[in-house]
Amino acid sequence: MNEDKMNLLVCGGAGFIGSNFIHHMFETYPDVSIVNYDKLTYAGNEKNLAKFSDHKPYTFVKGDICDLAKLNAVMEQNKITHVINFAAETHVDRSIHGGAKEFVLTNTLGVQMILDAVNANAIKKFVNVSTDEVYGALDLYEDRLFTEETPIMPNMPYAAAKAGGDLMCNAYFRTHGTPVIVTHCSNNYGPYQFPEKLIPFFVFKLMAGEKVPVYGDGRNVRDWIHVRDHAKALVLLLEKGEPGHVYNIGSNNERDNMTLTKMILEILGHGEHMIEFVKDRPGHDLRYGIDATKISSLGWKPHYTADRFGDGLRETVEWYQNNTHWVRDLIEQKKDEMNAWQVSFFSNV
Ligand SMILES: NC(=O)c1ccc[n+]([C@@H]2O[C@H](COP(=O)([O-])OP(=O)(O)OC[C@H]3O[C@@H](n4cnc5c(N)ncnc54)[C@H](O)[C@@H]3O)[C@@H](O)[C@H]2O)c1
Repeated sequence: MNEDKMNLLVCGGAGFIGSNFIHHMFETYPDVSIVNYDKLTYAGNEKNLAKFSDHKPYTFVKGDICDLAKLNAVMEQNKITHVINFAAETHVDRSIHGGAKEFVLTNTLGVQMILDAVNANAIKKFVNVSTDEVYGALDLYEDRLFTEETPIMPNMPYAAAKAGGDLMCNAYFRTHGTPVIVTHCSNNYGPYQFPEKLIPFFVFKLMAGEKVPVYGDGRNVRDWIHVRDHAKALVLLLEKGEPGHVYNIGSNNERDNMTLTKMILEILGHGEHMIEFVKDRPGHDLRYGIDATKISSLGWKPHYTADRFGDGLRETVEWYQNNTHWVRDLIEQKKDEMNAWQVSFFSNV
């Protein structure tokens, strides 16, 4: 990558994947210039990037992607050339039980605002980070994966709102020639994930000596990718991805929830009696599986392939074990946006 020419705006860079992406960028290209534009919702944590706070090419701006005037000003002032968007409401359960309005505002309208700002500021390339959940679900035993040609058929409010943003990207490319790329990635794992999500949540439950809640019968399958492999794929697309195209990202690593749960139990030295089956999520998608042939043909290869998943998962579990202060600090910052149970549980990990 020729980082001398790239002034990058990262939207939503204080969350899980965005902060891992910024870590990866600075470790690989120390001189690349990055503006991190994030609203700091309950899921955003500026401290994920504390080690770069004095790093000259790094700037943090608190802002909402729905605020077009602010986006335009930030792009203009910082002579932004490239944009990548991680900003989203991401927790599927919140989109079911807490109402979907914020999801539509950020995941659909917010993307449209970025597209307008990209056009107004002659941005060279915009990568909109999206999810495989927009494709709906696969059957458990069908011999089929999601390809870039699979129709968009989301089942969850979260996924429908993401699909709205993706369709806007396609429409802006066709109508205005906006240089936008959309990615559909599978489930990520790694450090800095908000602890309401499955892997960190299970780790903290087990560390507290409590059982882990598995939805339904635990047969639901997800295709797990290490967040750093996702970050590498996104850098490649900023450089070599073709505007107007969709790219699937996944590392061919499908696991059902029971298998994943047993692996976490084993790493932490617990038996299966620590599993508690709970009522299934309404409309729970059965299986996601990604065909990543297209991005592989650009030269992307995951480090954490399926046979290294055990290593990646162990490193991830150990990261949460060794960073309980990170969770306690996060919950202290966000306690007004968490329920009483979450505040009490995570404050004591
Ligand atoms: N986590 C996964 O497994 C996964 C898989 C595939 C795709 N994705 C996609 O990757 C992206 C990042 O996911 P994540 O897991 O890092 O999410 P996250 O919830 O950890 O972080 C989201 C970030 O966006 C910020 N944000 C939210 N609304 C905003 C707004 N209106 N304006 C500016 N910033 C805002 C939050 O403060 C937070 O920092 C999302 O678009 C998600 O759909 C995630």
